[in-house]
Amino acid sequence: MKGQKLVIVGGGSTYTIGMIMSLIVEKDKFPLKSITLYDINHERQEKVGRVAEIILKEKYSELESFNYTTNKEEAFIDVDFAFIQIRTGGLEMRINDERIPLSYGVVGQETCGPGGMAYGMRSIGDMIEIIDDIRKYSRDAWILNYTNPAAIVAEALKRVFPQDKKILNICDMPAAIMVSYSKILGKEIWDLVPEYFGLNHFGWFTKIYDREGNDLTDIIKDSILSEGFLPQDSEIVNDPSWIKTFKRVKVMLGDFPEYLPNTYLQYYLYPEEMVKKEDPKYTRASQVIDGREKRLSVLCESIINNQSTKDEELHVDIHGRYMVRVAASLAYNRGDIYIVIVQNKGIISNLPEDTMVEVPAMLTVNGPKPFAIGKIPTFYKGLIEGQGAYEKLVVDAYFEKDYNKALQALTLNRTVVNAPLARKILDDLIEVNENYWPRLNR
Ligand code: NAD
Ligand code: G6P
Ligand code: MN
Repeated sequence: MKGQKLVIVGGGSTYTIGMIMSLIVEKDKFPLKSITLYDINHERQEKVGRVAEIILKEKYSELESFNYTTNKEEAFIDVDFAFIQIRTGGLEMRINDERIPLSYGVVGQETCGPGGMAYGMRSIGDMIEIIDDIRKYSRDAWILNYTNPAAIVAEALKRVFPQDKKILNICDMPAAIMVSYSKILGKEIWDLVPEYFGLNHFGWFTKIYDREGNDLTDIIKDSILSEGFLPQDSEIVNDPSWIKTFKRVKVMLGDFPEYLPNTYLQYYLYPEEMVKKEDPKYTRASQVIDGREKRLSVLCESIINNQSTKDEELHVDIHGRYMVRVAASLAYNRGDIYIVIVQNKGIISNLPEDTMVEVPAMLTVNGPKPFAIGKIPTFYKGLIEGQGAYEKLVVDAYFEKDYNKALQALTLNRTVVNAPLARKILDDLIEVNENYWPRLNR
């Protein structure tokens, strides 16, 4: 197998070390020739880069080269794959995304509701610029994007790069949920075959099979309803916020037993409770700063001081492994089935053709081949149409610089609903995002 040349954009991300570990664990499936990290923040990336170098030296002797840079040409020239994981505005701006809606009694979340809109309007411009630059230097590279809010980024990229068939947006949440299913079943996640439909952070598993075709859905449902549900992936297993979120799956399934819900549906189905459990003065972003970010920083310092990983416990989480396996299937025509974000084009026959949907697809060298789903029932269709319209309006507002479209988007979102409230939240978000958003015309 030909070794791949990979660039990771957002090299200073808290997910990079996990990604490096996943690339090591999966090296037989996705062998690499070179890895380059690229970031606009040299200092942040350097720490991660120095650690990655030590890890790779110990555990990836086949790798021909590793480097980190803030030079785009150096980073993007002649690569086969680009993984993008940036955060425009950083976790500091995420605090605003969550705090402002919460201060009005509305869900404050990174990807859902007003926070998702604010983050989306920050991410779009940087994502377009990065993809333009990658295409300047590597016309045929696969571009796998995880940058959030993936739903809004995917909608925007579809519009700007309609002919580019090698951009794929992916979320790890369905896979993280499947890790918990696999624990219930005493299997490995890779033994499970899902049926799933929805939008990003807004979907349902309709069936879970094993590779022999046995339907395991009812075993999972019965277990959740009687025993509850918990995160099992190493990254989130001990995180109190994720534990609460996974526990809520039992409540959702109790109320709507037909399908198995994505955890993010809690924000749309139980918005009042979501607001109650949050503290506007210490939102999830602060938890991440004091949690994942700090943990990683301590780990990096320790590895740099020892110039070795021998005293460290390095986790391989599902986020990285999932992304690497997706890449492997695209690179080597494995035809594996993974849940990814693609243009609907009739997959779900009673939803618009142009909606970006999250569904299982067979991944080949010619791209994702999604499976037909057919008509979905009225409840899900109604929910998805509302949310899908919100996503389109956010992207309209961005490109048309249209205040009214942004107001329509927020009013349509299930977490807001009330027009005067939508206006107040929007006006506050405009103020704090003035260095990032286009100026919206009223
Ligand atoms: P982070 O802030 O720790 O890291 C992001 C990095 O991107 C930083 O080092 C920053 O300097 C860099 N960056 C920002 N703008 C850039 C640009 N224009 N070009 C190059 N680099 C840039 O964030 P994180 O918590 O590690 O998350 C990274 C991203 O991955 C976020 O968008 C997050 O939402 C996303 N994510 C998505 C999924 C998914 O399911 N799709 C899962 C995990 C994380
Ligand atoms: C899940 C989601 C991602 C999100 C991540 C971290 O994996 O799919 O989209 O970025 O969780 O969320 P957190 O709130 O812990 O930063
Ligand atoms: Mn996600």
